[in-house]
Amino acid sequence: MTNECKKGRNIKDSTSDMVNLTKNVDQTDDLKYNRRAFLKTAVGASMALGLSTVPFSVRAMMGIAEDEGERLEVARMDELPEGNSMTFNYPTESDAAILVHTVNGELVAYNSACTHLMCPVFYEKESDILLCPCHKGYFDVSNGQPVAGPPQRELPLIELEVENGIIYATGRKYRHG
Ligand code: FES
Repeated sequence: MTNECKKGRNIKDSTSDMVNLTKNVDQTDDLKYNRRAFLKTAVGASMALGLSTVPFSVRAMMGIAEDEGERLEVARMDELPEGNSMTFNYPTESDAAILVHTVNGELVAYNSACTHLMCPVFYEKESDILLCPCHKGYFDVSNGQPVAGPPQRELPLIELEVENGIIYATGRKYRHG
């Protein structure tokens, strides 16, 4: 490279231009770094917020919510032969529920207020199904899902445990979110 070229490339018009140039470079850098810092902070904050809600989001996606129900003695096994049902209240006295010992020997319990317009549902042994007589709503007894008629949502599931021949309600699950 010739001296002319070097001189040409390094020519500065004036000191004030140099100052302006430097100032402009600094401002550009400042803006760039401020923007980058802002973006980093924003992304970090969003990720932290997102991660903190993951358990709730997953549960919401799965449509599961649980009540902290007290463990409540509901009945003795020998009081409820297969093909029979009984009513009780859970988790509070104002939450009507139905416990069913199905013809297939399964023990299930749900809150019994129909998810259409709150009429009580009954176990129909002959069809092994839960029936709401108000508008002929039907629910699958094995999972509480609506299978026919107006109801669109499943019945809240009451979790059960059997210990020493005694049936206990231990919690309630809403599965639609
Ligand atoms: S209230 Fe149960 S079907 Fe309407």
